[in-house]
Amino acid sequence: MTQDKIVNAKDDAQIRIAAKILSEGGVVAFPTETVYGLGADVFNEKAVCKIFEIKKRPSFDPLIVHVSDPAEASLLWTDIPPLASQLIRYFWPGPLTLVLPKKAAVPDVVTSGLPTVAVRMPRNDAALKLIRYLGHPIAAPSANLFGYTSPTTAQAVFEDLGEGVEMILDDGPVPVGLESTVLKIEGTLCRLLRPGGVSLEEIEKWAPVVSTDSPPAGVYESPGLLRSHYAPWTAFTLFEGSSEELLKELKQLEETLKEKELPLPRIGLLSFFEKPKSSFFEAVEVLSAKKDLVEAASNLFQAIRKLDKMHLDLIVALKTPREGIGFAIMDRLEKASSGKKGFQDFLENWKR
Ligand code: TXA
Ligand code: MG
Repeated sequence: MTQDKIVNAKDDAQIRIAAKILSEGGVVAFPTETVYGLGADVFNEKAVCKIFEIKKRPSFDPLIVHVSDPAEASLLWTDIPPLASQLIRYFWPGPLTLVLPKKAAVPDVVTSGLPTVAVRMPRNDAALKLIRYLGHPIAAPSANLFGYTSPTTAQAVFEDLGEGVEMILDDGPVPVGLESTVLKIEGTLCRLLRPGGVSLEEIEKWAPVVSTDSPPAGVYESPGLLRSHYAPWTAFTLFEGSSEELLKELKQLEETLKEKELPLPRIGLLSFFEKPKSSFFEAVEVLSAKKDLVEAASNLFQAIRKLDKMHLDLIVALKTPREGIGFAIMDRLEKASSGKKGFQDFLENWKR
């Protein structure tokens, strides 16, 4: 596979080529401030269908539409209530996606048949230029295989989708590192569909936010709420205790395995700030040595991808505080570990 699909997002001529590909019904990957996106012209149904094919994304999972100017939202939404206008004024461009009733012009493939459409204005120059040069908003999910960790570098996009995508605009590692916050606006109410780059504390300065618990089975109000998402291939578990408690558990495991003359599992640790000095871990990825949640978020997906490449038996993640963007970090860690064996289960089943 060649890497010449990866081109410099700072080069205006390349952005123009990317816009031409989109105008001809193609699909390109581009940077945003949150994660890389896989884009198509929102009004070109066939092109939008290609996104679902390339990502192996089920057709029931709707896309976010990206605009280059708040005024463009009126091409997509039937009405913009005052609460939405206020949030837009405050948070766009930025990692906040709003869901509101859609205009008929927005194809059903984009919204998976839902009567609403999710829209945001990204805070990235190349993304904004790409939309402007195309002259239409761009429908784009994260540029990863469905269910896997979102890409925060052009290289990660290439690894996941290299075959399927015509061009990847490379703007280096993204600054936020987590997907946008998705809010559904219902009158004067904001309902949280996905925590993300804008924290609840920030949004609540403007409007109260109602959280959505997991929907009943079979109901996909927002498929991003699906359990087991953002997950690496390696068994992954979020350890609820402290690092000391984890080391204690591992010490016990070591003794049991010694008695049975069994090998220790190869474990990778995904740690918020600590770097425990322990031979238990084959690798340790520290998200932010200075305990900065914003820095931790920006490193999260790259760290998971790095550990996932090491053919470990298990990745164990330690908690972060659930405040600010830490709330979204914990959401991703929980989704990555759900559906997989928990730590105790893993230990009990190891080499049985
Ligand atoms: O930061 C981001 O949001 C990135 C960049 C590329 O913009 N995009 C992204 O897209 O994360 P994706 O497709 O991976 O996630 C879109 C989320 C999904 O959880 C989807 O279910 C939800 O938005 N969504 C989209 N349209 C919706 C709608 N009409 N109603 C409810 N949820 C919707
Ligand atoms: Mg995604």
